[in-house]
Amino acid sequence: MQNNRNHYYSKFPDVDVKIHTISESLRRHLYIFKTITGVFSFNKVDLGTKVFIEHMYIPKEPCVLLDLGCGYGPIGIVLGYESPQSTIYLVDINKHAVWCTKENIRLNLPEQTKNIIALSGNYFEPIKNKSVKFDGIYMNPPLRQGRKTFLKLLNDIQGYLKERGSFQFVIRKKMGAPYVYNYFKNTFPHENIDIICKRSGYWVFRCFHQS
Ligand SMILES: C[S@@+](CC[C@H](N)C(=O)[O-])C[C@H]1O[C@@H](n2cnc3c(N)ncnc32)[C@H](O)[C@@H]1O
Repeated sequence: MQNNRNHYYSKFPDVDVKIHTISESLRRHLYIFKTITGVFSFNKVDLGTKVFIEHMYIPKEPCVLLDLGCGYGPIGIVLGYESPQSTIYLVDINKHAVWCTKENIRLNLPEQTKNIIALSGNYFEPIKNKSVKFDGIYMNPPLRQGRKTFLKLLNDIQGYLKERGSFQFVIRKKMGAPYVYNYFKNTFPHENIDIICKRSGYWVFRCFHQS
């Protein structure tokens, strides 16, 4: 049987724990991130994440947003900085990643710690009892786990979006971005999907939920 503890998406990755500090300018603001060996892209902000952050749409008005599969938190923390009146949830299955996210919220957004909430667990499971719906869900999906889980998630996500809420995500072209685009159009003919940009081999998508 495969040892899942060696993956970045394990609950507790089986690696020597070493804390790293990285810095990155995103949307013209400099962020400092603490990361831990074994967390996704722990030594530098992933290129797909960077392309996504630079192009994602962020509502100006106060709203409720979710960074799904947050890793050490770059997407959700940028959302919090750019939309300071909003409530942001960040969720990851990897407990080391969630520890980093909590540290990174304190480091980068010390005045907003009350409305930025990091939770550990399996996708929507940690917020299931909160009966919360989102104006925006943002994701750099873990496609190394296989496409199937992500395609199933596309179904579940609709139930967590407010009317006209959007789901934005990034996929590498080589990892199946064109396939996902066609799958979405065929499976949800009444929902809209736009390709916001194609940069450096990554496609950034935005879908709107119409209920
Ligand atoms: C491609 S990484 C992106 C991480 C981060 N958003 C970034 O851009 O740096 C995908 C993340 O999804 C998390 N993940 C995988 N399966 C998950 C699950 N079932 N529930 C919650 N998070 C999950 C992984 O641990 C990983 O941190």
